Amino acid sequence: MGIMMVDCLNNDTVRQFLCATQLAAINLKNISKEVDFILMILSHPILKKYPLKTTYITRFLKAIISQMENSGIELPDELYLKYVEFIQKESNEGPFYKHYVLDNDIISNELVESVITIQESISIVSQGTTGLCTWQAGIALSCWCFKNQDKLKDKFIIELGCGTGLSGISACINCRPSEYWFTDCHTTVLNTLRHNTQINETHHKFNCKYDIVQFSWNDIEGLKMFEKKKPDLILAADVIFDHTMFEPLCSSLRYFTNNNTTEILLFCTLRNPETYTKFLETLRKKCDIYLFMFKNNNKRCSRKNFTYFFFFSRKV
Ligand SMILES: C[S@@+](CC[C@H](N)C(=O)[O-])C[C@H]1O[C@@H](n2cnc3c(N)ncnc32)[C@H](O)[C@@H]1O
Repeated sequence: MGIMMVDCLNNDTVRQFLCATQLAAINLKNISKEVDFILMILSHPILKKYPLKTTYITRFLKAIISQMENSGIELPDELYLKYVEFIQKESNEGPFYKHYVLDNDIISNELVESVITIQESISIVSQGTTGLCTWQAGIALSCWCFKNQDKLKDKFIIELGCGTGLSGISACINCRPSEYWFTDCHTTVLNTLRHNTQINETHHKFNCKYDIVQFSWNDIEGLKMFEKKKPDLILAADVIFDHTMFEPLCSSLRYFTNNNTTEILLFCTLRNPETYTKFLETLRKKCDIYLFMFKNNNKRCSRKNFTYFFFFSRKV
């Protein structure tokens, strides 16, 4: 019997490949058993329409070939042919995409129904922003939304610094918020996000009204936009890394917690503990809050560093 797409999608290496995980973080020990999955995925029309970066694919195929050769395993001709095919069209000209599988247990045999496709930049910082690629805490938040659908149900949610939009798209597809606002300060980020929502709307049903709003934390003081309608929940991922932004970010969080009912959930990647201490100091100075910190234990969503999430609400 031929291999099934559903088995491919439940395979960890395939999932890591689809979202172009760093090769060093992928376990290639059993790769000979997974080669057919990878070849099947590589020939799928969605990877032709929304390609991964070609240099990533060639490096990945080369790593598989080396691993199999070193283990004395005979290589299928198709693997070599694919490698040559991609070497010939290797290019750094985008746009490039990543495909995220969030569900732990896929039951659909359709690739497009099981992934969220995101256009991403190939560098961490490009066009003066960090928002054109998806960050680890953004992936963790998107998985959390998938698993905690009831916590977002019927809520008016505003996401701060939404970047490429993976978390928000996951929330709109998997949960039923009453309304979801993607916000970010950067025009190119918002244009990319718009493209990403359009791609995913062709395969998925968005279960809520959503809006894409340009909003900078620096502008919160004079802002009228949120006066009439306060959100029930603020979400943000990987926004705590630049200490010069802590003041405006915390002022925005204070603004949103002013009405005592808005709750806040921040997903963070713990890179430098001092950064978090400094952020929490700034936050505590500005807001009188209950704060809870959790370690994210979904291993499928985390890569090298741990992700944490902070949940807080205003003291009443
Ligand atoms: C590290 S990225 C995280 C993106 C996304 N949340 C994720 O996890 O993939 C930080 C995001 O915050 C946005 N940002 C930075 N400073 C901002 C500000 N002052 N106001 C609003 N957004 C800001 C950036 O444009 C970028 O999209």
